[in-house]
Order: sequence, then C-alpha cells, then structure tokens
Amino acid sequence: MNLSPDPERNQRERCSIDMAQRSDCKAIAQLGRDVWGEWSNGKPLPMQLIELNHPVLISRDHSGKLAGYLIGLFEASGISGHILSVTISETHRRMGIGEQLVERAVSFFSASRAQSVTAIITAENQPSQALFRKLGFDAIEEIEDYYGPGEAAIRFAMALSDSP
Ligand SMILES: CC(C)(COP(=O)(O)OP(=O)(O)OC[C@H]1O[C@@H](n2cnc3c(N)ncnc32)[C@H](O)[C@@H]1OP(=O)(O)O)[C@@H](O)C(=O)NCCC(=O)NCCS
Repeated sequence: MNLSPDPERNQRERCSIDMAQRSDCKAIAQLGRDVWGEWSNGKPLPMQLIELNHPVLISRDHSGKLAGYLIGLFEASGISGHILSVTISETHRRMGIGEQLVERAVSFFSASRAQSVTAIITAENQPSQALFRKLGFDAIEEIEDYYGPGEAAIRFAMALSDSP
C-alpha cells in the first residue's frame, strides 16, 4: 500500500486564502497580465475595490507566491454579489484553488446579506463554466455578442438560501 501523501492534496492544503490588501495589487496585476494579457484588470481596479470594501481574495502557495486571485463586487443594488474574475496561475491549476476562492467569495456575499451571486463567463470557457456549475451556479442566460461580434457570454447565478 502506498502511504505517501498525494502531492496535489498537499498543495491544496498549503495554499492560503485571504482578503487582499492594497500591497497585494502589484502581484495581482502581474498575474492578471500573465493570464489575461490585454483583458487584464490591471492594478487600479482591485486597489479601489479593496478601498471600497468589495471582496478581492488571494491565494498564496507554501512559498508565498501568488497562486491566484478573485475579484468580486457588489452590484449597485447591493442585493447581489458579482464575481468579475477568478484567475489562477498556470502552474497552480487543478489544485482546488479556484474552487476555494469562489466558495470564499460566496460565503462573503452571503454573510453580507446578498441574495444572489452572479458571474459572466465567455461561452467557450469550459473550465470556468465547469467550476461554477460544480459549486451550484446555474447558467441562466446566454448573451450574444457580449464581448463583441460572435463573442457570446453566459450569465451564471446562484441564489443564497440563507438570505433574509
Ligand atoms: C478556470 C480556472 C479559474 C479554474 O481554476 P482551478 O483552480 O484550476 O480550478 P479547481 O482546481 O478549483 O477546479 C474546480 C473544478 O473546476 C472544474 N475545472 C477546473 N479546471 C478545469 C478544466 N481545465 N477542465 C474541466 N473542468 C475544470 C472542475 O469541475 C473542477 O473540479 P474537479 O477537480 O473535481 O474536476 C483556471 O483554469 C483559470 O484561472 N483559467 C484562466 C482564467 C479564467 O478563465 N478564469 C475564469 C473566468 S473569470
């Protein structure tokens, strides 16, 4: 019998999930550029969302390196939370980090008495859609040409049952 620990599970347990600080935004912007290129949210957006008490979450690996981040915000009504971006570095994918970040954001919105959480995902982004479906989000709307001609998006939503 092989009793050696599963390396992926080990990694999963050793990645922290925390609220981001303003000082984390340089690393967030760098990872955003690496993963998203021209679609990156840059540094000012997470900085200002942190300042305004929206949820920006980070995960660091055992060495302290930024493994991923999530940018969330309250919609204008304040009764719904929205997940704008979940971004995991290529070397840290499939370790459960995206899942933990989304779960933490949902908990944050739930504790803040939001009634639902939404996310908008490109129609061809199967990994992200699988992540949100796994966590209980439903695809509620396909939005044609959302990102430009022929670039559809799908709106995902989850109702928060503990809402007042
Ligand atoms: C999509 C993304 C956030 C997933 O993050 P991750 O940390 O690798 O995902 P997890 O390890 O937490 O996986 C959780 C679940 O998501 C789904 N999933 C994640 N990656 C997947 C893939 N490549 N293919 C299929 N399903 C996938 C699976 O259901 C998985 O559960 P399982 O491991 O039990 O099969 C990551 O691939 C990423 O950063 N991609 C680039 C940026 C992006 O597209 N972000 C999402 C749009 S905002």
